[in-house]
Amino acid sequence: MALLEIIVAPDPRLKKKAVAVERVDASIVKLMNDMLETMYEAPGVGLAAPQVGVSKRIIVVDPAGEDDPAAPLKMANPEIIWASDQLKPHEEGCLSLPEEYQEVMRPASIKVRYLDEQNEIRTLDADGLLAVIIQHEMDHLEGVLFVDHLSALKRNMIIKRLTKIKKFEQKSSKRHAVEV
Ligand code: NI
Repeated sequence: MALLEIIVAPDPRLKKKAVAVERVDASIVKLMNDMLETMYEAPGVGLAAPQVGVSKRIIVVDPAGEDDPAAPLKMANPEIIWASDQLKPHEEGCLSLPEEYQEVMRPASIKVRYLDEQNEIRTLDADGLLAVIIQHEMDHLEGVLFVDHLSALKRNMIIKRLTKIKKFEQKSSKRHAVEV
């Protein structure tokens, strides 16, 4: 397994629509496992392939708390086939938007169909945190970030802040290069 680099917004690779997986073969399973390892290391509760620079419809999630046994889910081509009319707010964060947390409204319960790591079609009913994470990660496959659910004012504030941090980091790494 290998740790992958997580892309931080703003970045055009996070805005691209990802492509369906043809079949879940050994290379896709390896990517899923690397994504899970990267997610646990971060630490996070979900990760989508576009966040590691792979424009494929793959997500991994694990809603288990720190003290609970791991409950990883690896999904290719996830599709929401039913969503409740009832919406629920949840404070979300994202590994591609470090240190930013905002409340987002989404359907409280969903039914999702996907390909598992054996390339078998499965369906899963999800509510609570699991439903939030799956919907958040599936947004990444459409090039949508959780800030896209917020008002333009809030979104612009967050993106501005992240752009500033990125510029600062680029400058300080350049300085390092000169010093060495
Ligand atoms: Ni995210």
